[in-house]
Amino acid sequence: MSHNSPKDVGLDYQESFSEKDEHKKVKWGSREGMLNRFKLGIEKVNWSDTNSWVDVGCGTGSFIDLVLNASHCQNIVGIDVCVDLAEFCREKFLDDKRVEILTGNFETDLIDQKFDLVTSIGVLQNCGLNIDTALTGLVSLLGQGGTIFFTTKNQNWNKFTSGELTPEDAHLWFDPNIILEKLRNCGVEVEEIGGFLPRENRVVEINDSHTFYILGKLK
Ligand SMILES: C[S@@+](CC[C@H](N)C(=O)[O-])C[C@H]1O[C@@H](n2cnc3c(N)ncnc32)[C@H](O)[C@@H]1O
Repeated sequence: MSHNSPKDVGLDYQESFSEKDEHKKVKWGSREGMLNRFKLGIEKVNWSDTNSWVDVGCGTGSFIDLVLNASHCQNIVGIDVCVDLAEFCREKFLDDKRVEILTGNFETDLIDQKFDLVTSIGVLQNCGLNIDTALTGLVSLLGQGGTIFFTTKNQNWNKFTSGELTPEDAHLWFDPNIILEKLRNCGVEVEEIGGFLPRENRVVEINDSHTFYILGKLK
């Protein structure tokens, strides 16, 4: 099952928000897996070139929090469609003038804003939008030469194609080749694509994991 609209997704995360642990608030299976996705983003992105950054589906703001100490980025926006998560996040950065947290759907509520960097960790598979609209929406936030980094779910994982496991229907799964083609059609040059094992913190061949990442640049 995937949600029909971003509003439905927001309401769904309102429920998990009551969990105590941050990774459970955003429905990650483990804290390590969540943190390792952030570490991957930190490693792959060229932060020294980044003055403005939007983290789409920022959840509890833990990714922003980790990067803040290591980057010179002065203009950081986090956006999340879940009211409670966005509020939680806003309180976290109340004293930091570099960070602004918005409540809303990234596709409709950041009109005319452009960033050097757009990140989105684990959002595309359940964002209430079809993949064309979601990718176009993400890319529309990039200024010329801007960087995009995201992680999402791989329907071509070997364990699925071999029949060992079946993809759960709690969210969407994507063929990475189709995502690549769609990004190219939006003018994005993909610099790196790979599989990632979040719990093991390991980059692997793309179809050796249920999760993949993409790093690209708007030409
Ligand atoms: C799996 S959580 C990941 C949160 C965060 N990126 C992290 O890795 O901890 C997905 C997040 O995306 C948010 N989200 C989903 N669809 C969205 C949309 N259309 N606009 C903004 N936020 C969205 C959800 O509310 C949720 O907080």
